Amino acid sequence: MHLIYTTLLVLLSLLGTVRAAASDTLGPSKTDYVNYATNFTRVLNDKWFDAKSGLWDGMWWQSANILTTMADLASVNPDFNDTANFVFKSVFTAALATNGGTWLNGYYDDEGWWAMAFIKVWNKDPAHVNSINNELFIDVAASLGNRAEKQANWFLNAGLLTKNNTFHDGLHLATCTAEGPIFSYNQGVILGALVELSKLTGNSSWLDHAAKTANATIRTLVDHNGIFTETGEYPTHGTTVGQFKGVFARNLAYLQSVRGDESYVALLTKSADSIWEHDRDENGFLGPDWQGPIYGISAAAQGSALDCLIAAAAVSA
Ligand SMILES: *[C@@H]1O[C@H](CO)[C@@H](O)[C@H](O)[C@H]1NC(C)=O
Ligand SMILES: *[C@@H]1O[C@H](CO)[C@@H](O)[C@H](O)[C@H]1NC(C)=O
Ligand SMILES: *[C@@H]1O[C@H](CO)[C@@H](O)[C@H](O)[C@H]1NC(C)=O
Ligand SMILES: *[C@@H]1O[C@H](CO)[C@@H](O)[C@H](O)[C@H]1NC(C)=O
Ligand SMILES: *[C@@H]1O[C@H](CO)[C@@H](O)[C@H](O)[C@H]1NC(C)=O
Repeated sequence: MHLIYTTLLVLLSLLGTVRAAASDTLGPSKTDYVNYATNFTRVLNDKWFDAKSGLWDGMWWQSANILTTMADLASVNPDFNDTANFVFKSVFTAALATNGGTWLNGYYDDEGWWAMAFIKVWNKDPAHVNSINNELFIDVAASLGNRAEKQANWFLNAGLLTKNNTFHDGLHLATCTAEGPIFSYNQGVILGALVELSKLTGNSSWLDHAAKTANATIRTLVDHNGIFTETGEYPTHGTTVGQFKGVFARNLAYLQSVRGDESYVALLTKSADSIWEHDRDENGFLGPDWQGPIYGISAAAQGSALDCLIAAAAVSA
């Protein structure tokens, strides 16, 4: 199953990220969210980014996610370009060395997160003009693209989908039955993957699948105030699960850019407003539970909450 994810994830390379603004009502503006996110990113990098290892707090796959977050912030805040470019360059050199000169570690999902981060950064960084880089990129992307629709058809029918249109965490191989929690990131990555697949194939029915899962997730993974919440994990501890919600927020903003729905904007802006009002401290740290109160500060929680603020910026006017 991880292979499927990786394939879908890498497929996302085929087209760049387009973020369209949707109109919002009262509350903070796009500029407000961008300013919040830029400040909290500075806190994240000052506290946890280590240019020697190229990682945030020594974390591996989470650092790939945070690198993606940096690229997303640069796409809504051009003033962040210089910092982003500095960070991209140190990660490419130093994180590679930290992992023994390879991006691979035997876990398809970890490798997929790095692939997605590279794709975002690559799209933004015109400095990489070597022929070989570009040729390999096109070859890998086109080869995966050709296989992606088949994989998606398999995946959507593999028994992982619940009656609610959310995805279980995995299949029990012996019995072939779905098992595991309804984690937010499993609902998130598929949204971005299906958006890319719809662009690749010109078949909008992939967006229908995405909208069903987005809708179901918004109904399932929220608290009574409509704030996005990890399943069965409130309060959400740890640097693994603490990273997840941002992945959903990032991908929901991407779905919003091609098939908008006011409920997506509401989820993202309400959650971002709650982070700002209830889930930060006076030093600019953000906690893992977006309804607050703040506790369990970590680079993973900070990066994840940043994803929500940046997603709110992307869908706001
Ligand atoms: C961001 O940080 C700057 C400098 O520390 C500060 O002047 C500004 O008020 C902060 N903005 C927000 C939205 O927190
Ligand atoms: C930021 O970087 C992007 C892509 O590298 C570029 O198109 C844009 O002009 C840059 N903006 C600024 C203000 O440097
Ligand atoms: C489906 O959603 C309902 C209502 O939110 C919930 O009670 C039920 O546990 C969910 N089932 C699954 C398999 O997620
Ligand atoms: C679009 O994709 C769906 C599967 O999601 C498939 O059933 C349908 O035949 C496809 N349509 C075209 C025109 O290829
Ligand atoms: C999403 O769910 C709401 C009810 O919560 C429903 O009214 C709406 O039609 C659904 N949209 C889609 C695309 O499934």
